[in-house]
Amino acid sequence: MAKKISSLVCRQLEKAARAAAKQSYSPYSEFPVGAAVLAASGQIYVGCNVENASYGLCNCAERTAIFTAAAAGERRILAVAVFTPTAQPTSPCGACRQVINEFGPTALVISVCASTARHETTLDRLLPGAFGPDALA
Ligand code: THU
Repeated sequence: MAKKISSLVCRQLEKAARAAAKQSYSPYSEFPVGAAVLAASGQIYVGCNVENASYGLCNCAERTAIFTAAAAGERRILAVAVFTPTAQPTSPCGACRQVINEFGPTALVISVCASTARHETTLDRLLPGAFGPDALA
């Protein structure tokens, strides 16, 4: 079951995701994205998209944030907020859904954008029937 996250913490995550987009390295797409992850410890980790001249190596903001959390020792993710510079909220790409699933199979996923529109869902709704760590146990 997804853990209830207060609206105050949700707003903090959204703000952190918006701020993280300012660090985006996206000279090719010119599409700055920011993400913020709430770990079970209560700590928030942020990330941005980091592109590469070898386009296939571009890393999304969500994965940057999750890998940063994992590198800090976190193993459980409760929520992810993502900011895209769009008029309407967008949801994480397939690769990021799979990476979120590893640490937060029922995580809350909040999408915010350049307008005040926002969208909330959960990872299991975005990636039903996911292949995860249990499959290898
Ligand atoms: N991108 C993200 O970082 N997260 C998303 O949720 C959507 C896409 C990045 C990848 C690439 O650097 C740029 O946005 C355009 O696709």
